[in-house]
Amino acid sequence: MGWTLKKTIVMVGMMGAGKTAVGRALAEELGVPFLDTDHEIETAASMTIAEIFDRDGEPFFRARETEVIQRLLDGRPCVLSTGGGAYLADRNRSLISQKGVAVWLNADLELLWSRVKHRNTRPLLKTPDPKGTLTAFYEKRVPIYQQADLEVPASPDISVQDMAARVAQAV
Ligand code: S3P
Repeated sequence: MGWTLKKTIVMVGMMGAGKTAVGRALAEELGVPFLDTDHEIETAASMTIAEIFDRDGEPFFRARETEVIQRLLDGRPCVLSTGGGAYLADRNRSLISQKGVAVWLNADLELLWSRVKHRNTRPLLKTPDPKGTLTAFYEKRVPIYQQADLEVPASPDISVQDMAARVAQAV
């Protein structure tokens, strides 16, 4: 690339939106590292996200999430994928708006459900009615994701490469 990325691009959006896949493709296109908050937290704790929720609870997880976001936004610009709840905390949104560019990958509820329903790794969906839980999260979170700097529609008709290219053109 003939230019350098000035700010970290932070991928936000619901579980199942494709933040990791699009973030990876984008990082490759821009020639910068790809990082992922969940992965950083798991590596530091030597536990999976599900184990951390089980053993230490969600508030502990959220505190680690904020630490990771702060640390990575203070480092070299990269593409950073976040867990679906990360953009909800005021502190995280304020860090991201100061030091990064928030990109919301906007997928509709049916697509999200079709992607998450077969995977039982997400602790927040371990409820008697996971689809109802996902719907409630979706309704609560969408108005907050709308505060992102850029919205990219995610649908099965748009390839990961195309979504990454749209972001690359806009930043
Ligand atoms: C969460 C989403 C997960 C993970 C944790 C909480 C959420 O990440 O951070 O299970 O609050 O939506 P993905 O969005 O990558 O699934």
